[in-house]
Amino acid sequence: MEQEVINTMMPRIGDIAPDFKAVTTKGPIQFSNFAKDKWVVMFSHPADFTPVCTTEMSGFAERKSEFDALNAELLGLSIDSIHSHLAWVNNVKEKTGVYFDFPIIADIDMKVSKLYGMLQPNESETAAVRAVFFIDPSKKIRLIMYYPLNVGRNMNEILRVLEALQVADKYKVALPLNWVKGDKVIVPPPKTLDEMNARIADNSLEKVDFYLAKKSL
Ligand code: BEZ
Repeated sequence: MEQEVINTMMPRIGDIAPDFKAVTTKGPIQFSNFAKDKWVVMFSHPADFTPVCTTEMSGFAERKSEFDALNAELLGLSIDSIHSHLAWVNNVKEKTGVYFDFPIIADIDMKVSKLYGMLQPNESETAAVRAVFFIDPSKKIRLIMYYPLNVGRNMNEILRVLEALQVADKYKVALPLNWVKGDKVIVPPPKTLDEMNARIADNSLEKVDFYLAKKSL
């Protein structure tokens, strides 16, 4: 079957997040000036007034205080008008009491979706996929998730990786499989024979071998 190939470069981990201007439910933004000195969790959803998206957006709203605690701003996006966004936010508030108290980009011209590889035409030509970009305070993209239209994301995982990125930066460590806050962390493996011998002699670490050693923070 013929597949549509798009000729745009998708942002990658380590890239500086492409700058853009956008209209949001909290007013216009220039991304390079948005959330100065904070992390940004920027996420797209396929469409307003759809069921999976409503559960996901409600999940972001209900756990916003945990993003605040991690110095992270939320920034939603879909290829819908600002009027649709406002009506949806109001509808969900009226029906469930959950208020989407973070900016949602009205990307009706698809500019931002295309810039961030959120429009994946073999999944949908008109709706953004479920993307999540984790962007650090220097505006570098640190982690990217893409989910299809029919599978909702996992809020525990979104918060877990945000915290993992911050812990990795702060303590210069790496995080093992299924790491959650409080678990031991991986100390960087030695790079020289001297470091290797020091690691072998170090009894303060939980070691499988010199290259796989963990410690508590
Ligand atoms: C949903 O959010 O339920 C949805 C949106 C677009 C396509 C399929 C499902």
